[in-house]
This record gives sequence, structure tokens and C-alpha cells, in this order.
Amino acid sequence: MRILWRLYGYSARLLKTKLFRTAASNTSFPEVWLLLVQYFERLPGFFWVVQRNSFFTMPEILENKADLELYSPHPEVRGMTTLDRAAFKRTIVVPVLKVKKEVINKLLKSLKHITLHRPGLKRVIDDPKDEDRLVLLDPHKISAEYSLGESEQEILKQFNIDPQVSKYNLELTYDNFKTEEILRAVLPVGQDVTSGFTRIGHIAHLNLRDHQLPYKHLIGQVIIDKNPGITCSVNKINIIDNTYRNFQMEVLAGEANMITKTRENNITYEFDFSKVYWNSRLSTEHGRIIELLKPGDVLFDVFAGVGPFAIPAAKKKCSVFANDLNPESYKWLLHNCKLNKVDKNIKNFNMDGRDFLLGPVKEELTKELPLLTKERKNTLHIVMNLPALAIKFLDVFKHLLDGKPCSTDLLPTVHCYSFSKHDSPAKDVQEWAEVFLGTSLEGRCSTHLVRSVAPNKEMMCISFQIPAEVLFKKQCTHEESPVEPASKRLRPNEDSPEEKLTSLKD
Ligand SMILES: C[S@@+](CC[C@H](N)C(=O)[O-])C[C@H]1O[C@@H](n2cnc3c(N)ncnc32)[C@H](O)[C@@H]1O
Repeated sequence: MRILWRLYGYSARLLKTKLFRTAASNTSFPEVWLLLVQYFERLPGFFWVVQRNSFFTMPEILENKADLELYSPHPEVRGMTTLDRAAFKRTIVVPVLKVKKEVINKLLKSLKHITLHRPGLKRVIDDPKDEDRLVLLDPHKISAEYSLGESEQEILKQFNIDPQVSKYNLELTYDNFKTEEILRAVLPVGQDVTSGFTRIGHIAHLNLRDHQLPYKHLIGQVIIDKNPGITCSVNKINIIDNTYRNFQMEVLAGEANMITKTRENNITYEFDFSKVYWNSRLSTEHGRIIELLKPGDVLFDVFAGVGPFAIPAAKKKCSVFANDLNPESYKWLLHNCKLNKVDKNIKNFNMDGRDFLLGPVKEELTKELPLLTKERKNTLHIVMNLPALAIKFLDVFKHLLDGKPCSTDLLPTVHCYSFSKHDSPAKDVQEWAEVFLGTSLEGRCSTHLVRSVAPNKEMMCISFQIPAEVLFKKQCTHEESPVEPASKRLRPNEDSPEEKLTSLKD
């Protein structure tokens, strides 16, 4: 019985430390031990054992502050819709080490792993009592008993510093809290506070959810405050479903200047973000296509936007033909050509993609293809990045050119983008390309997953050389008849190509 009694006494002491309290709540520490401790704590003799425990140097922190709450702003900010920075102020108690100023720098290096790191906060402060310094420590990073671990004690010994940890009332202000801590304190408890945004030059582009809308101006201002260089925050207020693929946006905070300058793959672009399409998430894809090009190649960019394929291709000394229907995109495309000093390598157009393919592209292919030989083998590429609709434009290639089919390896390569909500997006996109080309691409195309746009919606790129039987007008009647694509045999209840494509729009 006595042994058991001691065992319970020992476990109770351990449980009173922060380490064990955390462990008990986070792991499957037997609940029965906790009950036993609660029971025995009520006995005066047991209480004495616990109080005597030398681990209790800072009981108020151990007892009263849950880890998560330690770095939260003042609770009265909950529900705030107009940012009042002063209201976030809060005093917390943190451990400090008293250190002679002569050794401070060396010591800081050795104790970096346990010092307090907060935005805008100094780790070392003057000791108001004398010439010494106080090093602020992170309560989460020092051992449970609120004393230093063996290795830290060893370091202090070398510097002849007293390992005694004392407490310090530290005032945290709005500047010392992180965006997420601020938003978690303001928004209703339990609601998602995701504060992610895309940066386009000085603009932060947010995509707020409905429950965040009452706090939209505050969220926008916090993003500006916490991200140097951002002076304006905007929220998307409609889905992209208009012709020019731009979206309406509302300025949440900061200056309402939408003309921005940004860099992608080492190239600078300027544009009016409210009037053109720009998506920073496509930078890898832009780079991937540019990697395929060699100097001297020809690029036709059917839906060019402000130039993220066209300009780097021209920089790489390719001949570029770029087109966009949106007059604003066209204006900024011209501007970016000048800005990047490639206006001599690019011919720009402002017309519908179909007209561009039937006009300038056809004309150029008619001129270029006969000149290409096995020796002079510049490749021709046609980029079609309008994922909701581009696949529908592929029928333009059917019998686009007169004359004799050129050698297969000289045929232009199309990179056509498409959304897919299908379980097998690669197969889906290939089938639709086959529908509009009127031939099978089996074994002569590749598909690439560009990005997941939504949980069940992928952006794909299908690349293929336009089959000669598609591109050239038939020379004689006994030519090969193209294999009827599997996709043409629509399954029962399947949408028509038109309906399916409309449903794929974002
Ligand atoms: C998805 S954006 C792609 C822009 C750019 N290529 C990029 O990768 O960021 C599609 C572009 O196609 C343009 N566009 C939409 N319909 C068009 C059409 N029928 N003909 C030509 N351009 C069109 C839009 O204005 C927009 O700039």
C-alpha cells in the first residue's frame, strides 16, 4: 500500500508540471492517473508534497496560460470590423535571463533556439535595475519546469552566467502579432481565418469566403500592414466568366491604383490588373513552354494576354506572333514588348483567335512550311491558353492549308489548354481535342497537368503536332481516312461537346 501511495504521489507531481499537462491532454495518457491526481490533491498532505516541488517557479504561466493563447491579442478585439490597432495590446509574462552586456552577442548565438522570436520585437532589452541586459526566452521552448535544460545550463556556465530564470511582463502590441494571430482573434471562434493572397506587384489579391466578408476591410488592412511593399488589397467579387477572363474586384484597403508592375521568370510586366488577365500561378507553365523553344523557332500565341509566353519567347530570339481580343490586353502587350525591348521580334494582333488562326497564322504557315527542310528545322509552336474554350478552336486547323503536306517532323506543335472535371482528365482532354480535330491523337499527343483549379477541376495542356491529314486539304480522294475517335461515340446521357465545354468554364 505504501509503495502504491508513493507511486501516486510521484505521478501527481509530474502531472503538475506543464510538460505532463500538455502530454496528458495531447496524448493518450491514462485518464485514470489524472483522476487519481485530482483526488489526492485535495488531501492536505499531498498538497504539501506538490507545493514543495522546486519546479514551480512561475505558477501563473503554468497554470493560467494555454499554449495557444499565449500569443493572442487582447480578447476584446473579437468581432472588430474597423481596425483599431491600439486595442490589440496585451501583457504576457515571459521568462528572461539576466546577462552581462559584454557576453550578450556570443550568448545569443548559442541560445538562439530558446530565445523569443516575435515580429518587431527585440530579443534583448535593458535591465531597468542596472547595466545588464535581459534576454527574452520563449516559454514554449524552454523545459517544462521553467528552468533551463542541461545543455543550456552548460552554455551559461561557460559564460559564468547565473542560470536563474526570472519573469518579465512583456507588452505585445499589434506590431508583434502575426496576421493569422490577429485574424484568429477578430473573427468568430472556430471560423477559418486563412489569410492567403496572391501578390501582383503592390497589389494583394484575396479570395475571401462569405463568412470573412463582414471583416473584409480589416483583413485587407492587416495584409497591407504585415507585408512590406503591398499598398493595396483587393477581393475578387465574381467568378471569371467574361470573355476577357478578368474579374471584377473591390478594393478592400489602401490606394486604389490597379496599374501594377510585376516580374515573372525574370521578365517585367506592367498592366492594369482590373482590366486584363493575369495569374501568377501560371509562371511554371509559362516557363515550361519557353523551355521547349530554341532561338529561331516561331511561336503563335493565340490568346496572349499581356505577354507571359510571347515576351520570353521573343527574348529567346524566337519569331513571335501574339494576339489578344481584349483591347486592354493588347495595349499592355505592346507596352510590355517595348518595356522588355523585344518589339522588333513580335508582331501583335488584336482580333478574335479564330480570325488570327485563319488570317496571320495561316499566312505565315503557308510561307514558312515550304521553306523548312531537314537542315533548316526551326520548330513552329501554337499556344492556345484559354482553358474554358480553346479546345473548341481546334477545328480551325482542319484543312487550313493548301499544298503538299510537309514532312511529319516539321508540322506545327499545338499546346492547347483545357479544364477538365473528369476522373481521367488526360483522357478527357484528348477525346475532346479529337472531336474538334476530327481525328485520333492516340500515340501522337502528350498531356500535362498544369494545376488543380478546384478540388474536382484540373487545368490540362495537351500538346501534339497537327496531323498532316488534318492540316492540309486533301490532295486526292483515296487518301487515308482518319480513325474515328472514340470520343465521337458519345456515351448515353453525355453532354454534347458544346454543353460540356460550357460547363467547364470557370
Ligand atoms: C486565360 S487568359 C491567358 C493569357 C496569357 N496567355 C497567360 O497565359 O496568362 C486568356 C486570354 O484570351 C483572351 N481572349 C478571350 N477570348 C478570346 C478570343 N476569342 N480571341 C482572342 N483572345 C481571346 C483574353 O482576353 C485573355 O487575355
